[in-house]
Amino acid sequence: MTGDHYFSAQPSTAIQRRDVEFTVAGRDYELTAAGGVFSASRLDPGTAVLLRKADLPPAGAAGPFLDLGCGYGPIACVLAAVAPRATVYAVDVNARARELAAENAARVGAGDRVRVVAPDEVPDEVSFAQLWSNPPIRIGKDELHVMLQRWLPRLAPDGVAWLVVAKHLGGDSLQRWLGDEGWRVERHASQKGYRVFRVTR
Ligand SMILES: C[S@@+](CC[C@H](N)C(=O)[O-])C[C@H]1O[C@@H](n2cnc3c(N)ncnc32)[C@H](O)[C@@H]1O
Repeated sequence: MTGDHYFSAQPSTAIQRRDVEFTVAGRDYELTAAGGVFSASRLDPGTAVLLRKADLPPAGAAGPFLDLGCGYGPIACVLAAVAPRATVYAVDVNARARELAAENAARVGAGDRVRVVAPDEVPDEVSFAQLWSNPPIRIGKDELHVMLQRWLPRLAPDGVAWLVVAKHLGGDSLQRWLGDEGWRVERHASQKGYRVFRVTR
């Protein structure tokens, strides 16, 4: 064991790959995850609730979409698959997560449309039609707020953010904080202890 967290920039453990299988909107996915990356052995239940309950983009959508804190890329892969013309930015601080997300995007045939990058590599001029995130609550409230204050303003004027947060990890206080920051926050769904928020200007 090491002291690595899944949000370490460079996990030091040797890479141990695992297949993660799940179905969203009638399509089966088989992606690769690995130790040192968030939820390496199964689709995270919060991510599953998000992908089941939020409104997936229509097939003709062009994006660009942002998967904020992409991990091995399940959200980015689903967005790219349901909207086969869209560009998806998949952003993570964890280099191993980015490596896996890029592999997985290629596995779903979207390697040319999913741009897997570190936060500082997203071009300044891009604004997002949609932002999707199962955000890294465990980095702590202050850092989480800094992260959201950085990326939510990158939404296009009519853009939508979809967030999933476990109620016991502060989902309701995050909703209040977003409201205090001036965002319109709707509790779109609640399932298995997770809240799905729809955030707009
Ligand atoms: C809860 S996990 C979700 C991962 C993936 N989206 C999923 O559903 O399996 C949150 C992710 O955010 C990443 N992360 C942590 N701090 C971040 C930051 N400041 N900017 C972007 N990503 C960050 C972590 O490395 C982790 O992969």
